[in-house]
Amino acid sequence: MHNKIENSSILITGGAGFIGSYVVEELLQHEPARIVILDNLVRGSFENMNSFLQHPVVEFVEGDIRDSGLLEQCLEGIDYVFHMAALRINACAANPSEGFDVMLKATYNLAELCVRHKVKKVVYSSSASVYGLAQHFPTPETNNPYDNQTFYGAAKLWGEQLFRSFKFMYGLDYVALRYFNVYGARMDTDGKYTEVMIRWLDCIKEGKNPLIYGDGSTSMDFVCVRDVAKANIAALLSAATDQAFNIGNCEETSLKQLLEALLKVNNSTLTPEHREDNTINPVSRRLADNSKARELLNFSPTVRLEEGLRELSQWYFEKKRETALSI
Ligand SMILES: NC(=O)c1ccc[n+]([C@@H]2O[C@H](COP(=O)([O-])OP(=O)(O)OC[C@H]3O[C@@H](n4cnc5c(N)ncnc54)[C@H](O)[C@@H]3O)[C@@H](O)[C@H]2O)c1
Repeated sequence: MHNKIENSSILITGGAGFIGSYVVEELLQHEPARIVILDNLVRGSFENMNSFLQHPVVEFVEGDIRDSGLLEQCLEGIDYVFHMAALRINACAANPSEGFDVMLKATYNLAELCVRHKVKKVVYSSSASVYGLAQHFPTPETNNPYDNQTFYGAAKLWGEQLFRSFKFMYGLDYVALRYFNVYGARMDTDGKYTEVMIRWLDCIKEGKNPLIYGDGSTSMDFVCVRDVAKANIAALLSAATDQAFNIGNCEETSLKQLLEALLKVNNSTLTPEHREDNTINPVSRRLADNSKARELLNFSPTVRLEEGLRELSQWYFEKKRETALSI
């Protein structure tokens, strides 16, 4: 079946990263003419790109989105853009000035260049961080963003608004996707919200009781990276424009439940140990309402948490085995 992707040229900023590498894999199934990946490898890696780096339609450009000359070269002849390059939430907090250059200034340049190069649609990676602690659960896109306290959330919201204004002023089509807590093979091992899975897998591997800080009631909405990649393709293929969509799994999972599930899929009999939590977590709860994505993008998540945790565990233990063999 013919679709927009077939024979088109696509730029993915941050395509060597965790989610970006899955988006490339999904795109390749639709026979595009060219996929240009622009990534400075600050977090992405050649390992993430193993399955497609040698593919004849894939061009990897190692470089920075802050280099506007390079960005312009990469946009030559491009039909569609996935804008995924970004700093992590904790990196933004540690260095807001760099956060400004990467998340705001470079995104502004990109939007301008997209207009100049007549890009047909941008799919922008936003985040559930725009809500801070939401007022409504499940959280719809209409929940207001005034409770966000992070630079990262502010930058993502600004990015959405930037594309909105460019649609209004110049007709640039775009869709923003607000991912919830993304997990899966190739995930970041020290992300602020998801690293706990890796810490617990470390405990399972070493036979040490896993620790829970606080009462374990903080909840998240864990969405598998394979589903997030599918949501990106759906966002491009759909007629939707000038819209933001939640992309979650619509399952609220407390940290306590997450640990129980992780122990179960690994047949582990370790017992969780509780420790007093001395940090203040301003976002104690997350749960997406995906109705809008279901209706307008025809997107629904397909990977249940247990299945995703099984895959993640398999990847983690294989990686550990490979590392041990190479030493
Ligand atoms: N992982 C999550 O849970 C999550 C949740 C919400 C939103 N997001 C957003 O999704 C997108 C992808 O996230 P991810 O989890 O794959 O993160 P990631 O860090 O694995 O991917 C981002 C990629 O961007 C690259 N990059 C960073 N700065 C760059 C620069 N200046 N120039 C060129 N490349 C640069 C990194 O090397 C990396 O490969 C990001 O925009 C992120 O903010 C992720």
